[in-house]
Amino acid sequence: MNMLYLFKYIRLDESLQNIYVYSDVLMNNIPSDAMKKYQWIFAITIMVALIIFISCKTRFDTTKATYKATSSSQAFEHGKNLVYTICAGCHYNRPTNKFTGNPIEDVPGIAGKVYSANLTHSKTHGATASYSDAEIKYLLRTGISRNGRFLAYMLRPNMADEDINDIIIYLRSDDPALAADNRIAGTTHFTLIGKIYMGTTAKPVPFKDGITKPSDPIALGYYLVDNIGCFHCHSKSVAAINAEYPNQTKGYLAGGFKLKGPQGIKVTASNITPDKQTGIGNYTPEQFRKALKNGEAPDRKLHPPMPKFQRLSDNEADAIYAYLQTVPPKYHKVEGH
Ligand code: HEC
Ligand code: HEC
Repeated sequence: MNMLYLFKYIRLDESLQNIYVYSDVLMNNIPSDAMKKYQWIFAITIMVALIIFISCKTRFDTTKATYKATSSSQAFEHGKNLVYTICAGCHYNRPTNKFTGNPIEDVPGIAGKVYSANLTHSKTHGATASYSDAEIKYLLRTGISRNGRFLAYMLRPNMADEDINDIIIYLRSDDPALAADNRIAGTTHFTLIGKIYMGTTAKPVPFKDGITKPSDPIALGYYLVDNIGCFHCHSKSVAAINAEYPNQTKGYLAGGFKLKGPQGIKVTASNITPDKQTGIGNYTPEQFRKALKNGEAPDRKLHPPMPKFQRLSDNEADAIYAYLQTVPPKYHKVEGH
């Protein structure tokens, strides 16, 4: 998977502790006559610690809401489609055939190693078992976990109430892909550099409620580009992602972002603005559906990490197409396309 947006992820309490430990070690190991000479090191250490302390917050407010997801005749199937379309890219593990989680490949080694969570009903290793429905909703809307950590990966500030509801119904279901399984892909670990970088760039979004899903095709298309996260991969870089106002993201949908496919092969995301020379301006709606659902562009087979959105309806693919026609065409030649 891609997902450099973990760079917005934060576990700062640990990095602060590390800084305190480092300053302690420094203080205790330098003889007093050398103290004067090295005073500037202490000064810098303290200043850095202070800057980080001021610019980062380690724990954010959690929710006390008592919301409970409600089931309906279509909730399970619709929720399943959503989870396979939106969450599976990171959480569905092919070897186990379940949502046991994966290593996230695009994190530079210098920042650490990140694994997505096990979403099965495992009491010991499943992440959702301890979550209330309200806490899942809060995590998706704000990025804040049930114990107050900021996890930017799932941040979907504009996701409609009905979609969140159905996602929760599916996550609570007895679908075989969610059956209790204690396997995990690994335990997330950040280096100090990773923590500081993420800590200083991370920001949760304030909680909003009562969001409805648009029905007008163009507005629905924008909603899908936002919530499926097309723009995460198809814009300039992960650092540029604007989760709250997607179309304000730098290089919005004009491609160029280099992602890692299987075996670490680099694949550059396409320009999907309607530019005729460098974008998808010549696609017919049929060709577009095929690209999205089967991974076949008119001129070539598409490579992962471009997902195959097999659970997207034709109506949804057409809405995305209609919306993309309204995005200003941008001439931006993408390497290898
Ligand atoms: C871009 C990749 C990505 C996507 C997409 C994604 N997740 Fe995650 N998710 C992660 C990672 C990585 C973690 C674990 C972070 C860690 O180890 O601290 C995680 C953790 C979680 C957790 C556990 C949080 C905790 O407190 O530890 C839940 C619940 C979760 N995800 C649900 C979802 C749902 C539901 C969706 C779809 C709507 C989703 N995720 C989409 C990457 C992703
Ligand atoms: C995880 C990253 C990722 C996500 C999410 C993603 N894409 Fe892609 N997409 C890619 C990559 C990488 C390519 C280039 C693949 C190649 O060249 O083989 C691509 C190619 C495409 C193409 C082919 C364009 C061409 O070059 O002719 C279209 C169309 C497309 N994506 C649309 C979408 C839409 C619409 C969404 C959301 C519903 C989406 N993508 C979500 C990574 C992604």
